[in-house]
Amino acid sequence: MLLTLKNIGKSYRSRYGQVFRKVLDALDLQLDEGEKIAIVGPSGSGKTTLLNLIGALDTPDTGEIIFGSEVISEWNQNKLADFRNRKIGFIFQFHHLLPQLTLWENVLIPTLPLKSDPEAAYQRAEELLRTTGIWERRFQKPGELSGGECQRAAVVRALINEPDLLLADEPTGALDEENAAGLSKLLTDINEQKKITLIVVTHSMELAEKMDKIYLLKNGALALADHRPASKKRV
Ligand SMILES: Nc1ncnc2c1ncn2[C@@H]1O[C@H](COP(=O)(O)OP(=O)(O)OP(=O)(O)O)[C@@H](O)[C@H]1O
Ligand SMILES: [Mg+2]
Repeated sequence: MLLTLKNIGKSYRSRYGQVFRKVLDALDLQLDEGEKIAIVGPSGSGKTTLLNLIGALDTPDTGEIIFGSEVISEWNQNKLADFRNRKIGFIFQFHHLLPQLTLWENVLIPTLPLKSDPEAAYQRAEELLRTTGIWERRFQKPGELSGGECQRAAVVRALINEPDLLLADEPTGALDEENAAGLSKLLTDINEQKKITLIVVTHSMELAEKMDKIYLLKNGALALADHRPASKKRV
């Protein structure tokens, strides 16, 4: 098991400390290594809140998050930041690349805190930029590129530290149909070829249906909405 969420609760509080919205309530989830799942649900149901907890950007009020064999929900902020940088890749609806830097510089940023061998990082960047089809664009800045190209660069940035888990929050939400289809294929290829576990939050059923399982987030918890054996799926 790569990830286990047990009895997760999360509320947002007003400035005076009263609970004004219980977003997640007794939520459970188990995710195997290499699995790919979609989380769907109405706007405001708590999908981003849940991804932020899984990606250690926020902490739950109750319950446990277990990654591998470690209970990360007990860790302090420093340990969580290091964990996040090494183990988790994030992709958002908008690419959030830094506009003043080239793609090459943007995708290498996450390697800086690790103080590891730069040559190895350059090699990974080259391989990923080539697989995503934007190698020729590497010395251009985000403003000079299409939305689809920028989003592919965001995928490279998410993968540069070889994470175990890739979290994508509406990754195709800002793309046209053709680019959305390309990005969906890229994500499923990465899951298959690199064996990276994948969680996508999406409103797109086309993307959701490419996953092994579809969960619906409703009333603060996850319900399995669709589960077909991999052999029956055509990606
Ligand atoms: N920092 C915060 N402070 C207070 N309330 C918040 C905060 N973040 C989210 N919320 C509230 O929690 C609920 C869940 O928000 P969340 O962003 O997780 O929903 P979502 O399912 O991702 O929605 P969408 O599909 O629109 O992105 C919403 O009602 C939102 O207003
Ligand atoms: Mg959201």
